[in-house]
Amino acid sequence: MTTVQPVTLTPRLARLFTRGREFLGVEVPIMCGAMTWISEANLVSLMSNLGAFGSLAAGNMPPDEFESEVRKAQELTARPFAANLITIAPNYLAHLEILCAAKLSHIVFAGSIPRRTEVETAKRSGAKVLCFASNPSIASRMLEYGADALILEGSEAGGHIGHVSTAVLLQDVLFQFADQVPIFVAGGIAHGGMIGHLGLMGAAGAQLGTRFVVAEECKAHPRFKDVFIKARSREAIATPQYSSKLPVVAVRALNNAAMDAFGALQLDLLRKLERGEMNRQEAQYAVEHFWVGSLREGAVEGNVERGSLMAGQSVGLVRKVQPLREILLELIQDADAAVARAQQRLGDGG
Ligand SMILES: Cc1cc2nc3c(=O)[nH]c(=O)nc-3n(C[C@H](O)[C@H](O)[C@H](O)COP(=O)(O)O)c2cc1C
Repeated sequence: MTTVQPVTLTPRLARLFTRGREFLGVEVPIMCGAMTWISEANLVSLMSNLGAFGSLAAGNMPPDEFESEVRKAQELTARPFAANLITIAPNYLAHLEILCAAKLSHIVFAGSIPRRTEVETAKRSGAKVLCFASNPSIASRMLEYGADALILEGSEAGGHIGHVSTAVLLQDVLFQFADQVPIFVAGGIAHGGMIGHLGLMGAAGAQLGTRFVVAEECKAHPRFKDVFIKARSREAIATPQYSSKLPVVAVRALNNAAMDAFGALQLDLLRKLERGEMNRQEAQYAVEHFWVGSLREGAVEGNVERGSLMAGQSVGLVRKVQPLREILLELIQDADAAVARAQQRLGDGG
């Protein structure tokens, strides 16, 4: 077990975020979103040991590697953390089985929509289930399947993204479902002020990815972090889809040669599809395979030209590498100040 000094919320924020704290079983309902190659056992457990909440990325890890990563995180922290499963990954069902056997406290279904039976399997193991909801009808369906909480992720986020911005999802999903279930908001958040205001809007907590990439303890390559520090928001662009014959989930990343390579790959796959040299499933697998390899090249090997630099638009708000504890303290301080200002505006001393 690693010993670190956990952070605490101010009494005002503790009240505002009671629901998220209780649901996650932590002091600070700020989640570090799962990031393939980046959210490994050390970062995840540190996040939780600091009193916040980490999320292990399953990606498409070989099952035995994933199992030892889960075990390692459990050895490094006695506090709750989640694992994030990609429902379209070939190893997904094996990952789910591993988490159920490990009695993980929280399971996040990502990638696509999980089946009802999969949500039920997760819940039978004792885990609380979080599902992504990109519109109200998916939100209703996930709640009907038994999801215990929802995550809204706006298209400002880094990595694989949906079509709709955080601002619209807040109105479309948060305002409608926040009374029923805890909702965690992701995408475009890097300043604590935003977290405070999300709490006022009814969010149970927030999930950040991009900001935590530049944590000192994050294993991402120093060159990868350096690019994040220098980048502007508008440089974090989303990939286009060239044809409905090859539907691809958009990826938001900093523009570099990897983005051009992805464009060329799509065109090549389309040609192969047209000639009947591969089917759509094979083409989509090739797309996902590209991103996993390319992100490894960027985030792990530090090839910031040819490797993918998945990052959200909040990258423009990220200014320096800081210890994770300092980032959390800053987020809490800014969240508290924002809520205090809102109270003053309402003439409520709080
Ligand atoms: C480098 C990178 C890799 C990511 N990988 C994953 C992943 O494997 N699974 C997932 O559900 N989300 C993934 N995400 C999304 C994050 O978990 C998080 O929801 C997102 O970063 C939040 O938006 P932000 O980047 O604006 O903070 C990734 C994001 C980044 C920046």
